[in-house]
Amino acid sequence: MKILMVCLGNICRSPLAEGVLQQKVDQRRLNWKVDSAGTGSWHIGSPPYHLSQKVALRHGVDISHLRGRQLVKEDLLEFDRIYFMDEANYWDAKRIAGSYWDASKCSLLLDELYPGQWQNVPDPYGYPEKNFEEVFQMIEEACEAIIRKYGV
Ligand code: 4NP
Repeated sequence: MKILMVCLGNICRSPLAEGVLQQKVDQRRLNWKVDSAGTGSWHIGSPPYHLSQKVALRHGVDISHLRGRQLVKEDLLEFDRIYFMDEANYWDAKRIAGSYWDASKCSLLLDELYPGQWQNVPDPYGYPEKNFEEVFQMIEEACEAIIRKYGV
C-alpha cells in the first residue's frame, strides 16, 4: 500500500498525517510507503512548522526529518491512495494532475471517519498551539481508521 497525504504548504497538516500514519505502519510492521506533499511551492525543502513538530513530539511522533515538497502529477500514478486535508487541496491537486487525475484514489482524509460528509481538516497555520492539537487529534483518528481498513 502506498499512501500520500496532501495539504497546501506541506509544513503543518500533511507532515503530521505522514508522521502519524508512518508510526502506525512501523508499529504493525506493514510494508507500506507513506509520504506527503503540498499543492503550493512556498515551502519546498522546509522542515515542518515548529508547532506541528511540537505537538507531534508530545504524542511521541518525531517529524523533524521531514522536508516539504510539491505535489507532482506523477504522484497520481505512484500512490494507491491520496488523502487531502481540505477541499481546496483536492481541487488544486486535480488541476496539477491534469490527465493523470484518478478520482478513485482520491478523497478527503476525514472521509475515512465521516464518509460522504466532505469534512475538512482546518488549516492551523497562523493559529495557536491549541489548533494544532485539535488537528492532531483529527489526523490521529483518521489514520487509525486507515490502518483498520487496509492494514490486514
Ligand atoms: P499546511 O498549512 O497546508 O497545513 O501546511 C499552511 C502552511 C503554509 C501556508 C499555508 C498553509 N502558507 O501560505 O505559507
